[in-house]
Amino acid sequence: MKNFSLIVIYCFILFTAIAQDKQKSISIIPQPVSVKKGVGNFTLTKGTQIEIPSANPEVKRIADSLSKKIFASTGFKVAVKSSNMLIGPRIQLSLINNAAIGKEGYYINATPQTISISANAPAGLFYGVQTLYQLLPKEIESKTVVNKISWTVPVCSITDYPRFEWRGLMFDVARHFFTKDEVKQYIDEMVKYKFNLLHLHLTDDEGWRIEIKGLPKLTEVGAWNVKRVGYFGTFSVPAPNAPRNFGGFYTQADIKDLVQYAKNKFVNILPEIDVPGHSLAAIAAYPELSCSAGIENHGVGSGEEIKDWDKHVALVDDNLCPSNENVYVFLDKVITQVAELFPFEYIHMGGDECFKTFWEKSDAVKALMQKEGLKTMEEVQSYFEKRVEKIVSSKGKKFMGWDEILEGGIAPSAAVMSWRGIKGGIEAANMKHYVVMSPTTFAYIDYMQGDAIVEPHVYETLRLNKTYEFEPVPDGVDSKYIKGGQANLWTEQVYTIRHAEYMTWPRAFAISETLWSPKEKKDFDDFTRRVEKQFERLDVSETKYSPSMYDPIFDASIDSINNQLKINLSSELKGLNIYYTFDNTFPDRFSPKYTGTLTVPPESVMLKVITYRGKEPIGRMIYMPIDELQKRAKEKKNE
Ligand code: ACM
Repeated sequence: MKNFSLIVIYCFILFTAIAQDKQKSISIIPQPVSVKKGVGNFTLTKGTQIEIPSANPEVKRIADSLSKKIFASTGFKVAVKSSNMLIGPRIQLSLINNAAIGKEGYYINATPQTISISANAPAGLFYGVQTLYQLLPKEIESKTVVNKISWTVPVCSITDYPRFEWRGLMFDVARHFFTKDEVKQYIDEMVKYKFNLLHLHLTDDEGWRIEIKGLPKLTEVGAWNVKRVGYFGTFSVPAPNAPRNFGGFYTQADIKDLVQYAKNKFVNILPEIDVPGHSLAAIAAYPELSCSAGIENHGVGSGEEIKDWDKHVALVDDNLCPSNENVYVFLDKVITQVAELFPFEYIHMGGDECFKTFWEKSDAVKALMQKEGLKTMEEVQSYFEKRVEKIVSSKGKKFMGWDEILEGGIAPSAAVMSWRGIKGGIEAANMKHYVVMSPTTFAYIDYMQGDAIVEPHVYETLRLNKTYEFEPVPDGVDSKYIKGGQANLWTEQVYTIRHAEYMTWPRAFAISETLWSPKEKKDFDDFTRRVEKQFERLDVSETKYSPSMYDPIFDASIDSINNQLKINLSSELKGLNIYYTFDNTFPDRFSPKYTGTLTVPPESVMLKVITYRGKEPIGRMIYMPIDELQKRAKEKKNE
C-alpha cells in the first residue's frame, strides 16, 4: 500500500512537471513553419561541444561565431570539432540534401543529449543557429558572463524555411550619416530575425556617402552639411559661412569591409544611388550636373525646405539634368565603381519624387524633348531612366528603381520597388517585372509608431498592428514576380543609432514574420506575446525598442447631438486596462478605469492616461491636452 501511494505521488509530480514544461511555450520570431515541443531539456554546459562535419569554411565560421556568443554570455569555452564521431552533449551542424527546405531552410532536433541543426546550405545553418539563440534563455544575448543560469533548450523539433527570398530593411545613411560600425551593429540585429538584405540609401539631398574615385568633391563637399536638430524640412537656410562639418562617408575600403561583414552573415547589400531627383549633394559638389544656373550657390541640403510637398513643386533644383551628356558620363563613373564594390545582382537607382519644376523651365530639356520626341515630363524621366538602366546593365548588374520609374514607360529588364502603396507593384508584376514591396501603408518604419503626443515627431503614424497586416502578394498577382518585401527606415528625424533601433523594433519583427513565416501562421495576438519575449532579449542585449504597442489609442470626435467632445480609448494589445484622470493627477490602477466613451468635465485641461496589465503599469504616462483632442476632433469633422 505504501509503495502504491509512492507511485501515485511520483506519477503526479511527473505529470505536473510535464504539464508545466509544455506550458513554457517556445517564442520565436519569425514564427517557424513547424515547431513540435517535447518533454525535457538539453542543457548547455562547459562540457558541450560543437560538431561540424568537415572542413567547410562557412560552416566552421558559423560554428565559431556560435561558440563565441556562448562564451560571451555563459563563460563556457565550447570547442568546435570537425568530426562526426563525438560522444557526449553536443550541438551538431550538418549539411544535408533535402529539397523541401530550400537554400535557407533548416531543421532543429533537440533532445536531452544533442541539438542537431541540419540544412542544405550554410545559410540554413546560420538561420538554425539564430533560432537556437531564441530557444536558449534570454541571457544568451548578454555581452558579459551571466552566472547562475541553467542554459537549457527545450526538447523540440523544428522545420523551417522562408516564404520570400527578399527580406529586407532599408537604412537611409544619407539624411543622417551612420558610421560603418553602426551599420554593422544594425546588421547584427537584423540577422537575428532572419533578414537577408540591407538596402543602403547612399545618396540624397543631404549627403553623398560613398567615395567615388576620380570624383573627389562628391565626398569632400557632398558628404557634409550644417548640423541641425529639430524638425527636418523646416530648418532655416544656413548662412553662407556656416560650418559644413556634419556628416561623413564610407571610403571604398569601408564599403568592402561592410560588404564582407554582411556576406559573412548571409546579408546582401543593395546600394542605392538616388537619381535624378534627391541629388542636391551631388549637385553641390558638381553644379554643372544641374540644368539650373545659380545652383552653385546652394550647398548640400541641411534640412531646410527645398520642396513643397503638397503642390509637388521643387523650391530648389535637386534634379540631375537629363539633357546633359556629362550627367551620363558622371553616372557611368559612379555606377562602374558601385558595381565593382557591391557583389549583389541589383543596383537601385532611385527615381522617386523627381519634381519637374526646373526641368519645365529649362531650354535644354525642351530641346531634348524635341530631339527625342518626348511629350511629357514623365517621358523625360523615362528617357533618363532607360539610359541609366543601359549603364547599369553594361556593368553586368540589374536595374531597380522606386515605382515612379513606371511613369512614362519602363525598360524591359527593370525591377520595381513599390512604395506609394502596392499599386505600382501590381502594375509592374502584371507587366512581368520583378517587384519588391515596401509600401508606406505597412512598411515605412520612419513613421511614428504611437500617438504624436508621445512619439518623436514625424508626419505620419504606422502602428505595429498595421505593420503586421503587410501582405506582399496582392490578390490576382502572379507571386513569381514578387521577390519579397522590406521595411524602410528613412532618417530625416533619426539622429542616432539608438533612435534607429527604437524605430526599427518591434515593427521589423512584424515585417520579418510577414516575409519569412507561412501566411496562414500569422496571428497578431500570438505575435505580440512573442514580441514581449523578444523585448526581454532586447533588454539583455541593450538594444532600444519602442514600447508604443502598450500605449492607448486616442480617438476624438464631436458628438453630433450635443456637439461635445467625445473620447474613445483602445489599445493594440488585448487584456490591458486603461486608467485615466482629468484632474491633472497621475493615474494608476486606483483611478477611474476606462470602460466606454469619455466626455470631458467642464474646464478640464488635461487627460492623463496609463495602461496596466493586472497590477503592473505597462504603458507610458501620457499627457493629452484637451485642446489637442478638440483640434483632432474638429479636423476629423472637416474631413
Ligand atoms: C520614397 O519614400 N521617397 C521612396
